[in-house]
Amino acid sequence: MPGIVVIGTQWGDEGKGKATDQLGDRVDHTVRYSGGNNAGHTLVVNGEKYALHLLPSGILNPGVPVIANGVVVDLEVLFEEIEGLNARGIDTSKLIISSNAHIIAPYHKTIDKVTERFLGKRKIGTTGRGVGPAYADKINRMGLRVQDLLDEELLRAKVEASLRDKNQVLAKIFNQLAIDPKGVADHLLSFADRVRPMVRDTARHLNDALDRGEVVLFEGAQAHHLDVDHGTYPYVTSSNPIAGGACTGAGVGPTRIDRVIGIAKAYTSRVGEGPFPTELLDADGDRLRHDGAEFGTTTGRPRRCGWFDALVVESAATYNGVTDIFLTKLDILTGWKKIPVCVAYDVDGVRHDTMPMTQAELARAVPIYEVLDGWDEDISGCRTFEEFPANTQAYVRRLEELIRCRISGIGVGPGREQVVMINSLVD
Ligand code: IMP
Repeated sequence: MPGIVVIGTQWGDEGKGKATDQLGDRVDHTVRYSGGNNAGHTLVVNGEKYALHLLPSGILNPGVPVIANGVVVDLEVLFEEIEGLNARGIDTSKLIISSNAHIIAPYHKTIDKVTERFLGKRKIGTTGRGVGPAYADKINRMGLRVQDLLDEELLRAKVEASLRDKNQVLAKIFNQLAIDPKGVADHLLSFADRVRPMVRDTARHLNDALDRGEVVLFEGAQAHHLDVDHGTYPYVTSSNPIAGGACTGAGVGPTRIDRVIGIAKAYTSRVGEGPFPTELLDADGDRLRHDGAEFGTTTGRPRRCGWFDALVVESAATYNGVTDIFLTKLDILTGWKKIPVCVAYDVDGVRHDTMPMTQAELARAVPIYEVLDGWDEDISGCRTFEEFPANTQAYVRRLEELIRCRISGIGVGPGREQVVMINSLVD
């Protein structure tokens, strides 16, 4: 089963790192194909906690970690993460980076922040990492690519061209000081010697690996409902984290993807603005946030929390051709007498069994809940489905029916070994 994509099925922070980590030693290449350091993967390996933003979580496994063309790379963050891991004894020397990946320049971060400030109440709630402006430059054909670091003259010319109109906008609209192109170019070029040995045609590398029958894991960042095409636009990220994004973002054809694993949290969370029908703004929401430690890995922001929304996960499973769901953080639901699950929406008196077509309808959607019985038993030590209490089993089985997709793995705690596997994710 050589080509596997892992995606988030909600609004991110589903615990994708844990699921990809399960595939661990079976994987020969782990690929980030979209997004940048707006992502956050927290992994706990041998009791040690690692928070990664840009590097593929496979960096902790023996395979080759790959940053593919679809990613936007903040060079400062890249080397901070590499040095942080090296200091803890993790070997990062196998990492390769696409020559076509775009660079997040310091001015992208400035623009991200001032734009959000300017939007005021209409802000997106971005992570402020410059991701959106870097992708905007890519689409505007004004972007800087990793390969440009290998050609000083070209890089300087591109920075200069890119800042010509940006400086006008920064000064005249946002009341900011103009940015010096020389300073930016010098800063970016200071990374060139360290980047050079990592730069590859990663699309060729991955296609050759697939030809040899090696296992390639495409590790989605963010999630389906943050996808710029399929998510809750405009409250989305600026890339395509969906499974199909692995094709454009890594340069492999759709025929090379054999399996799509969707990660779903046993409840729902969201950071930033945007519609979230099952959000709990009361003590129940606080309890989920506290028990689930729902604070952003990237920004530290408290996450908005709510009950499991089957419509959200069903649409992600359907639109991504998900073959298996990995359900995470089921242990966090222990101790609730009753657990509501959203099975439909009421929009202006009309029942919707799938997500409504327009954003305006979603914003007015009132969840219709089915209330399931909870459990009190500690499930964090369970390693087989049969060890779960009857109500836990019933919760999982009901979710499976509602999302119309089999659940193949379940997370019951933060540790690498705290999982219940029902079907293998690789064979
Ligand atoms: P941006 O990606 O920084 O432009 O932010 C756009 C939206 O995506 C905001 O609502 C962010 O909170 C959200 N977002 C971006 N990356 C992640 C992630 O890894 N997990 C959850 N939300 C994210």
